[in-house]
Amino acid sequence: MAKPPIYYTTPIYYVNDKPHIGHAYTSLATDVLARFKRLDGHEVFFLTGTDEHGQKVEKAAKDAGEDPQAFTDRVSQAFRDLTVTMGFSNDDFIRTTEPRHKAACVALWKVLAERGEIYLGDYEGWYAVRDEAFYGPDELTERDGVKYAPSGAPVEWVREPSYFFRLSKWLPELLRRFDLSDGDPERIDIQPESRRNEVRAFVAQGLKDFAGKPEKLDLSVSRTSFTWGVKVPGDEAHVMYVWVDALTNYITAAGYPDTTNPRWKFWPADVHFVGKDIVRFHTIYWPAMLLAAGLAPPKRVFAHGWWTNEGQKISKSLGNVIDPVSLVEEYGLDPVRYFLLREVPFGQDGDFARKALINRLNGELADALGNLANRTLSLIQRNCEGKLPAAAARTEEDGELFASVDALAETVRKQLDQQHFHIALETIFASVREANGYITKMAPWALKKTDVVRMAAVLRHLHTALRTYATLLQPFMPTTMAALLDQLAVPAGARDIAALGKPMADGVALPPPTPLFRKIELPA
Ligand code: MSP
Repeated sequence: MAKPPIYYTTPIYYVNDKPHIGHAYTSLATDVLARFKRLDGHEVFFLTGTDEHGQKVEKAAKDAGEDPQAFTDRVSQAFRDLTVTMGFSNDDFIRTTEPRHKAACVALWKVLAERGEIYLGDYEGWYAVRDEAFYGPDELTERDGVKYAPSGAPVEWVREPSYFFRLSKWLPELLRRFDLSDGDPERIDIQPESRRNEVRAFVAQGLKDFAGKPEKLDLSVSRTSFTWGVKVPGDEAHVMYVWVDALTNYITAAGYPDTTNPRWKFWPADVHFVGKDIVRFHTIYWPAMLLAAGLAPPKRVFAHGWWTNEGQKISKSLGNVIDPVSLVEEYGLDPVRYFLLREVPFGQDGDFARKALINRLNGELADALGNLANRTLSLIQRNCEGKLPAAAARTEEDGELFASVDALAETVRKQLDQQHFHIALETIFASVREANGYITKMAPWALKKTDVVRMAAVLRHLHTALRTYATLLQPFMPTTMAALLDQLAVPAGARDIAALGKPMADGVALPPPTPLFRKIELPA
């Protein structure tokens, strides 16, 4: 039976500045899952892109002395370059200034307006340009006469005519969907659990506070005080609120409003990957807009945590922004990809410490996995004429190793279905450690003198284990694992997960092994 198509998205990144580690991180997680699902036989659509409208980008262009379109053309290129630097396998890269996107925004707006979900009014309240978000007075703090949002962004008083979206009407339906059980097709699943509870409580509290005046919960969705955005159809003095424009990207790329587009089969998205700061937009505004337009909401929104740099909050003013490009130049792409997903449980905040990266690179990648491969493959080269030893029956001791190896694909699939990247890596590397224990205990180098038949069997078992690790680690470390699979002589057509069930042909020639990872000295 054909496996269902899968749609994963990253947030689209503001082009007010160049990409940093936070941007690379969200996209990396998405990339790993997209690669895994492709290896597992699914058709995957993986979308990323740039968010190019709004006051924040308009201001950044002005500060740079450039026309906004020229500015966004230039900065968005840096985000496209990053997808290459980081080895992302995205199937499309959307820019919100593209005609296809403006058309989708206009189409969605018209549907909402026709259905009576949008009405004209006046907006008065606090707005933070840095967050492109509205805040209630009770959320603000004041310092030296300036008011700040909980995010630390300064807010300004805004008063202008505005279109409103009837958000209030959809909030009870959202709560119902948040609470449906796992597997219910109508469920909107917010992960991790702590975020779900937060969003749920926020919506429930709003409904309680404004029970008498639900329209207070409606969302201002247009602005008249600047022009860098998608014009509201029929009322060109207004541009759409940048979040309405931005969120729509997820359906633009699937072909909206043309639901006969072959890509429409991917909607609704299986997972929107987002950072914890933008959860509300994705779990409240976006699903409500979709429901109001008669479209299916996303199945899951997963919010990851934030990185600090050596214990410090990352900020431009502190000058400690981590540049993913220089990181990759220094440590290599695959170790960086591995570290980011191994170090911190996905969903929690984490600290970027170079020492921790180097320790993982040296200990886990070079010593544990690299040496296991090198020892096994060198022994096959030297003692088996460089040919894959014949498949052999398993002894009880072999069975202990294979208890973890045979179950690995299924275990990792389940873990990745929950976006538990660090646990998946932990599980694979626990098995790698077992295999290292196995090779030490079996000592195939000694068997050479006492029992060559058993030596060959042990090496074949190790080859099978290594093939399993390399196959399952491909999504995390595509280049290095391709090199390992080459060294293991696994044919190009036999590198997917289903192929793990089919043993390799006995006697295939293996190329001489070369080290997979380069160790790095810890700075004093
Ligand atoms: N343009 C909006 C998203 C619109 S999606 C329809 C936006 N852009 S952003 O460029 O400011 O942020 C994009 C992502 O980067 C967010 O998911 C955010 O959480 C993430 N990160 C920014 N700094 C980060 C860290 N220090 N650590 C981890 N991720 C961080 O928001």
